[in-house]
Amino acid sequence: VAADDFATRLLRWFDVNGRHDLPWQHPRSAYRVWVSEIMLQQTQVRVVVPYFERWMQALPNLADLAAADADTVHALWAGLGYYARARNLHAAARRCVALHEGALPRDIEALLALPGIGRSTAGAILAQAHGLRFPILDGNVKRSLARYHGIRGWPGTRAVELELWALAEAHLPQTRLADYTQAVMDFGATLCTRQNPACVLCPLQDACVARREGATAEIPAPKPA
Ligand code: ADE
Repeated sequence: VAADDFATRLLRWFDVNGRHDLPWQHPRSAYRVWVSEIMLQQTQVRVVVPYFERWMQALPNLADLAAADADTVHALWAGLGYYARARNLHAAARRCVALHEGALPRDIEALLALPGIGRSTAGAILAQAHGLRFPILDGNVKRSLARYHGIRGWPGTRAVELELWALAEAHLPQTRLADYTQAVMDFGATLCTRQNPACVLCPLQDACVARREGATAEIPAPKPA
């Protein structure tokens, strides 16, 4: 299967089976995608949705967040846990006002310099909000790529992680980057699940190394004891 076949098949699967009605998809602004990605870092979609809606009612744009006081931000986050995420959002919004004319930068290095934004979150923002050609690599995507390519090393090592980043980059389509980003997340969350992946429904099943080798339960490898 050619490299871009991976993306083509995932996009076709996504058109029928993906999530198209998430609140941060309509409208899809950089601010909304950013807040959603930070909320989704450690929290499931169904938990995030009502928090996201309430947050956007109170702080509909980046300037509102920058101008809010810490208590307001904390109250809107209360219940999601990992409060450093909220403090980072607040600090990053203020830095965007001070340094980037009140908007999230489109430049990857400038995004990565903001508190709370790592490489995968930066890619998710640039691809979803601006259609730019950047990969994401969260836990779901690591698992899908490791299985598809039969990568048996523990993804916690730097070498395996770098290999997965290179594969994530290689599979990027030339168009529909926002949809593709959502497609790989939905694919990992609903089909290529950690336990009992739904291989019979998988659009990549005939090309998947783990499937062919009967190794989906062993990939990704757990942290060595
Ligand atoms: N996890 C991180 N970002 C996500 C998104 N946009 N949809 C579903 N799960 C996610």
